[in-house]
Amino acid sequence: MKRVSKSLLLPLMVAGLHSLAMAQASPTAPITLPPMGWSSWNSFSNTINSSITIAQANALHNSGLQKAGYVYVNIDEGWWLGERDSGGNIVVDPKAWPAIQPGERAGDMSNIARYIHSLGLKAGIYTDAGKNGCSMYPDIGPAYFHTGSEGHYEQDFLQFARWGFDYVKVDWCGGAKENLDPDFQYGEIARAIAHAEKITGRKLYFSICEWGRQSPSTWAPGVGGTDQAIWRTGGDIVAPVVAAGPHSERKVSLENIFRNFDANYHPEAQHTGYYNDADMMVVGMPSLTPAQNRLHLSLWAMAATPLLIGADLTTLNAATLADLTNPEVIAIDQNPLGLQAVKVAENGSGLEIWSKFLSASGERAVLLLNRTYFPAPMSVAWKDLGLTGSEASVGEVWTGKQLAAIKDKYNATVPPHDAVLLLVRGTEGTFAHYAPDPTDKASISSETRFSDIAATPATFVQVRINYRNPGAETRIAALHVNAQAGTRIALLPTGSNTSSAWIQVRLDRRGNSNQIRFTQTANVRIESIDVF
Ligand code: GLA
Repeated sequence: MKRVSKSLLLPLMVAGLHSLAMAQASPTAPITLPPMGWSSWNSFSNTINSSITIAQANALHNSGLQKAGYVYVNIDEGWWLGERDSGGNIVVDPKAWPAIQPGERAGDMSNIARYIHSLGLKAGIYTDAGKNGCSMYPDIGPAYFHTGSEGHYEQDFLQFARWGFDYVKVDWCGGAKENLDPDFQYGEIARAIAHAEKITGRKLYFSICEWGRQSPSTWAPGVGGTDQAIWRTGGDIVAPVVAAGPHSERKVSLENIFRNFDANYHPEAQHTGYYNDADMMVVGMPSLTPAQNRLHLSLWAMAATPLLIGADLTTLNAATLADLTNPEVIAIDQNPLGLQAVKVAENGSGLEIWSKFLSASGERAVLLLNRTYFPAPMSVAWKDLGLTGSEASVGEVWTGKQLAAIKDKYNATVPPHDAVLLLVRGTEGTFAHYAPDPTDKASISSETRFSDIAATPATFVQVRINYRNPGAETRIAALHVNAQAGTRIALLPTGSNTSSAWIQVRLDRRGNSNQIRFTQTANVRIESIDVF
């Protein structure tokens, strides 16, 4: 253990945090940001087909959404009916997925992938880890069995890559029914994806959809060594809605928005490039008010969770489009550190202050969240955000109002069931630098320990992990804090440089007796950590 004291570091820190953060080289593999785009499920469920997908892709392209960063067009469940040919290949309905351009063959999913790519967008597809998919909604059409990939992992993921898809969501309906082990199955799928990439050169972004039932925060980050992944943390935000169909009366609800936001709270697992997935959004769907749309976007951006629009894009009005493309909201979601907001204070029951640590020194995204049924005076103090100094500038994100040199805290009256989203720019607080315990030869040991870490009053602290991964592959280390349940952290290749990944941990022991251990570090070198 070698701890550089806060007091020693303070002058260096205050003056030099920004340059310290920037001095480090990026990993040699790109850090993926939370995916942004559109997904078919919330508005079209099992009725998805080629013409709907084309209309949605066109709307994404023409509405300003693509320019703002929404690039995925994700085809969810319902695109195939569970039939395979004698070679085990998925049979695609030629009527639902006809030729789009001259010379194409009907019943070939590469047609739609090509179309999506022709607009400069990326294409996503869907399957299940088990034998059967979820396709059992008899009241919105016939039930389709065998719409999962179990027994065909290599074949199916190779097919998806050959068709030209860039993204695959893998659901868990069949897996759950068969009582499979998600850590194992999703690991096998990651291997199939890597195999497909080796053969085709096409990367499939891996979206794990296990709904948080078997603690994916402990196994999903970097499962199977994948260098890009998200994992669902909760159930569906809305039941299948088919326009004018039997489900059309099922409304989206604020209750479910809050439920999914709360289930998504796993700061101990989310780390740079690897995200908890709170589900596709319902922004812009019937029955949400403009204020609720903005609240929903604020929550998703604070969580740094994927921004996948589930509404019918051809029906969005100008105000909703403006909210969805708000550059500051998107920048909060897409901040490269990838950390989710943590709750730092409460002004009273249901009156919550959330803070998201951003990459610029002294900068925080802050949400004053009023969950109650009454308007409430709320207040956030700079010290609750880990900032020092008495003054900070404040930008009110949704109104665009800029306030300079605000002293100590910000006050607002927050309407019921609503929130105020802020960008606060102040003076960064202290951090402490720790070197590994000296008994560890970090380069050869498979465990790297950092001991005698001082507790702080915060529920979660931000940890910058400074590491070197000279290999070509992303390495997965296990991370243990004190006696808490472990999680995994993915460490991208860095070449011969030192790079960093960020995560948040709870230092739940008093005094200087906290310990952070990394195991399975044989192929990487964890050089130091900085605790903010
Ligand atoms: C599950 C998933 C949804 C959607 C449906 C499709 O419920 O959680 O996001 O993919 O399956 O049936």
